[in-house]
Amino acid sequence: MKTAIVYYSMNGNTEYAVKKIAEQTDAELIPIRPVKAYPDKGFKKFFWGGKSAVMGEKPELEGYSFDAKKYDVIVFATPVWASNFTPPIRTFIEDNRGVLKGKKFAAVICFSGGGADKAIIKLKDFLGTDSFAAELILIDPKDKPDSANESKLADFCKKLNEL
Ligand SMILES: Cc1cc2nc3c(=O)[nH]c(=O)nc-3n(C[C@H](O)[C@H](O)[C@H](O)COP(=O)(O)O)c2cc1C
Repeated sequence: MKTAIVYYSMNGNTEYAVKKIAEQTDAELIPIRPVKAYPDKGFKKFFWGGKSAVMGEKPELEGYSFDAKKYDVIVFATPVWASNFTPPIRTFIEDNRGVLKGKKFAAVICFSGGGADKAIIKLKDFLGTDSFAAELILIDPKDKPDSANESKLADFCKKLNEL
């Protein structure tokens, strides 16, 4: 089954994870970015990103190429912001709702230790799905290298390859 990984990463942890997945599967990476970048350092990063996530904002995205017909499985990869998935992913889902119908969904969630379960529930709700075909939850995989993360990554890739 052909897979797309739609991802947003502010500080590189989610990107680290999805690049590893792309090496071990035939998944294609589709990075998305807001037109107006969020501050990515210090207090401002948590303030503006957190507020945007809590408010359920849908920031305008830079152009991206996504031909839904090519894919059977769509993986959404996102950091956790304020126990939620990130606003750029919200925009992507909203903008592509029609063409996402009938696809299998999976999720990759990066966080620092709290709120991943809530973010997954919110992502499922927003997608209108009861379950993901595969789920991967990692604690800061780039910033906190850990063999447990690497084996979770390998298990997730195996699942994707078996879909
Ligand atoms: C605005 C903002 C809010 C965050 N909220 C949470 C949170 O609620 N729980 C958590 O465990 N980590 C939280 N984090 C940390 C990130 O989820 C975590 O460091 C993630 O691995 C970063 O991914 P990235 O490097 O791909 O951006 C937050 C980070 C930011 C910038």
